[in-house]
Amino acid sequence: MTRTQIKVEKPVGKLGVLMPGMGAVATTFIAGVEAVKKGIAEPVGSLTQMGHLRLGKRSENRTSMIKDFIPLADLNSLVFGGWDIFPDNAFESASKAKVLEKELIEQIRPELEAIKPMPAVFDPKFITLIKGPHVKKGPTKMDLANQLREDIRNFKNANKCERLVVVWCASTEVYTELSPYHDSIAGFEKALEDNEPNIAPSQIYAYAAIKERVPFANGSPNRCVDIKALQDLAREMKVAIAGSDYKTGQTLMKTILAPGLKSRLLGMSGWFSTNILGNRDGEVLADPGSFKSKEVSKLSVLEQILDPETYPTLYGDVHHQVHINYYPPRGDNKEGWDNIDIFGWLGYPMQIKVNFLCRDSILAAPIVLDLAIFMDLAQRSNLYGIQEWLSCYFKSPLTAPELKPEHDLQVQMLKLHNTLRFLGGEELINHLGLTYYGIVEE
Ligand SMILES: NC(=O)c1ccc[n+]([C@@H]2O[C@H](COP(=O)([O-])OP(=O)(O)OC[C@H]3O[C@@H](n4cnc5c(N)ncnc54)[C@H](O)[C@@H]3O)[C@@H](O)[C@H]2O)c1
Repeated sequence: MTRTQIKVEKPVGKLGVLMPGMGAVATTFIAGVEAVKKGIAEPVGSLTQMGHLRLGKRSENRTSMIKDFIPLADLNSLVFGGWDIFPDNAFESASKAKVLEKELIEQIRPELEAIKPMPAVFDPKFITLIKGPHVKKGPTKMDLANQLREDIRNFKNANKCERLVVVWCASTEVYTELSPYHDSIAGFEKALEDNEPNIAPSQIYAYAAIKERVPFANGSPNRCVDIKALQDLAREMKVAIAGSDYKTGQTLMKTILAPGLKSRLLGMSGWFSTNILGNRDGEVLADPGSFKSKEVSKLSVLEQILDPETYPTLYGDVHHQVHINYYPPRGDNKEGWDNIDIFGWLGYPMQIKVNFLCRDSILAAPIVLDLAIFMDLAQRSNLYGIQEWLSCYFKSPLTAPELKPEHDLQVQMLKLHNTLRFLGGEELINHLGLTYYGIVEE
């Protein structure tokens, strides 16, 4: 597809944002949008709301807010819904999550109380440490997928939405190896009919969304839209998919710091990361199976950035460890410690310590907003299949099978900005800059 063939449809009418999982992240996102709409808070951290884009040559001094440059769904057009294994409405759930102050959520109480989750597709095999009463029943996994599809259609009609997106905000599932039926659409559909045990709820949600031609973004490390059957289905149905696992606290820092150290060719002998957190996500991650999903997602980042095959002397023997400790007193306010052992000129060792006192859901909420709005943009632009230009939001960005993911945050941002320029019909920026010095002609 060339730039002239891209036509970005206008975002007319309402955009429904559906979230499997209406816990801390989802309710912090919803409450935040409602607070911004009322003018009582700013959408800090959101590129779609606050970001600017440089256009043209530096000498032109031309920039635009992203939302003025390209037609994006307006905050006032968003409608929220979702599914959860607990029937709590968004006010009750936000109150229990204790991320936002009581005074803030009281100001948007009616809007939050109106959002009630639909019964979830749940399987205790995949999430072992929590169980709830608000779940669907059905003879087969295909039947459950069909119930979700009906929920999606009913939500769209009831709320008079023109378009929908699904953003996964539910708990992390146990890490599972894939089975041969994950490799093809036909195999996957047969496995749904046959109730195969290795089909996870997140895969059923993704299947239902894609079949309804609704874009799907996976915010957790679950094996979900990274499986071939669902990627093939997304291409066949011409639906945008993205994932996996929001890049928020420690991994965000890693993908800022590691490329910087590598740029200066400073060597590394180890990176030790540990965290304490006390929210429900932390409780689920106390299960070794769920933690394994997170660990796989967190560990891959450094290896790709440092590229030990090309730099064996500098990065051939890096001891990388990641630990998550469930520690209830801290709630959603995670504390992360990183110790980085590096070495410089002639191999002399040095150390860097990072102590990040962050707030998990405060970092994740603007990502959910941007993903909802950018996935809708992708769908309106007929960009279907994997949306690699949204890699900056994920710990394990999806790519075409033959590609290595790009983890460096600044490279990811260049890609995102250039994709927006491309969609908006502007020149791409390659930062060569020699034309400014008359060395090469334009
Ligand atoms: N907050 C962050 O910084 C961050 C970063 C990366 C990824 N994530 C991921 O985001 C997800 C949400 O995190 P959170 O802090 O909101 O967790 P949370 O525990 O507060 O909320 C998750 C919700 O999902 C519900 N749930 C579980 N299984 C479900 C199912 N099958 N269908 C529907 N609902 C289901 C739970 O009842 C709960 O209400 C987790 O997977 C987490 O790993 C969060």
